[in-house]
Amino acid sequence: MSEGQSLANVGFIGMGVMGKNLALNLADNGYSLAAFDLDIGKVEAAIEQDRAEAPNSEPRIRGCSSYTELLANTATPRIIFVSVPAGDPVDHVCSKLIDAGIGADDIVVDTGNSLWTDTRDREAKYSGSFIFFSTAVSGGEEGARFGPALMPSGDPYAWTRMRPILEAISAKVDAETGLPIERREPGNPITEGEPCAAYIGDSGSGHYVKMVHNGIEYADMQLICEVYHLMRHAMSMTPAEIAEVFRAWNKGPLHSYLIEISAEVLDHVDQETGKPLVDIILDKAGQKGTGLWTAVSSLQVGAPAPTITNAVFARALSTLKDVRVAASKLLPGPASNGITTSREEMVDQLHDALYCAKICAYAQGFQLMQIAAKEHGWDLNFSSIAKIWRAGCIIRAVFLQPIADAFERNPELHSLLMDPFFAEQVGLYQSNWRSVVAQAVLAGIPAGAISSALAYYDSYRTEVLPANLLQGQRDFFGAHTFERVDRQDGKYHVKWADPERPLVKA
Ligand code: 6PG
Repeated sequence: MSEGQSLANVGFIGMGVMGKNLALNLADNGYSLAAFDLDIGKVEAAIEQDRAEAPNSEPRIRGCSSYTELLANTATPRIIFVSVPAGDPVDHVCSKLIDAGIGADDIVVDTGNSLWTDTRDREAKYSGSFIFFSTAVSGGEEGARFGPALMPSGDPYAWTRMRPILEAISAKVDAETGLPIERREPGNPITEGEPCAAYIGDSGSGHYVKMVHNGIEYADMQLICEVYHLMRHAMSMTPAEIAEVFRAWNKGPLHSYLIEISAEVLDHVDQETGKPLVDIILDKAGQKGTGLWTAVSSLQVGAPAPTITNAVFARALSTLKDVRVAASKLLPGPASNGITTSREEMVDQLHDALYCAKICAYAQGFQLMQIAAKEHGWDLNFSSIAKIWRAGCIIRAVFLQPIADAFERNPELHSLLMDPFFAEQVGLYQSNWRSVVAQAVLAGIPAGAISSALAYYDSYRTEVLPANLLQGQRDFFGAHTFERVDRQDGKYHVKWADPERPLVKA
């Protein structure tokens, strides 16, 4: 620090893509930063971008070449943002900060996509050395730069210190319309509107909620991809025609960032070949793990989330490219793989199918959070979570407002499907959804997410499921017992091996 230079408001470790953009966002909102990265070139690039974007202001980011220098340059009690890959790197940074003399009152804020149990464990592990706080960030590079959705969790005292900063850098929603305030101008941060940052809870709950956000993101993306697949391969529509349909849909209840960017991708032409880019992109999906974590968690807590899980499986299946190529020549499909309904009619049906399936995917995600909250003792506010997701994040959509309203009306709502608005919507559009599933099956076009959502819906609304027979099977081979429908007086077992097959109380 040069003489006379005041200390930076916050420290920042990790100047990768997300880190640099969050740092510039903080700077735009009036926070000076002391920045460190193991790769000094990344710090220099951030400083250079800052100078280019704010040439007339005092330098807002100062580079530090060690953890000790970072601490020496940050005002106490310190707030240190960390943007490093999830997993061991977070602990590495924490132990380096301890070695460098971080104070017990200092706050370290993990902004990565950490596994929620790691965050919970870190809150306990580092207590006494410093306050480990986290804020999950959604919105990719651009969100980080101009306003992400933030899901902070940890020590409530730390939240009181973090709140003004996180609210300042977060995305904002117009209070009257509930729509995102779209402004992406360096040096002109969004200071008006409702912030998309609210305290989630303690014990890693913020990262849990972000994980479920990503699980829903997986489902939402897969649903859109299945609709595209049907249009492209069963209706012979060109990518540009599909983009046009998506643009029209983006004016209605399906209005969302994911529909918008899907249209952009579909409309893009490969510069080398002149073909639609989507036809050039290899059909093998990547994944970093958050969708898988959501699926695993849903299985662990017993929250049915088949559409989310299906979306994870769909990515796994896509990676078996060589096998699929061989199987496409060997395994027969139906005689016709086309759809005979008129294009106009089918496009309408697909719209309604996507809408209904989307309702189910979100219902699954919210129910998962409800069940997990009970299990882990979190007091989650689901209306507030839906509101946070209205802007900045990848699943931002007009659709989040009625979800927020539903949980506002009834915070104990068992499922979005039980909310009068959503129940009515699915009731109105379900016949087109059923028609799409039936036609996809007959055409041999996989639509696992759309159809799993329908099976979920039908299971959820079915009074008597075949679990009665299943319990009978379990009792037969394993004496696992069953309950009776005609009285509630405990468990029963039939002695199946006894020729008399007597019923006994278990
Ligand atoms: C977000 C995104 C972000 C990231 C995903 C991508 O909310 O900003 O979800 O977290 O893009 O991790 O995940 P996959 O690589 O698994 O698709």
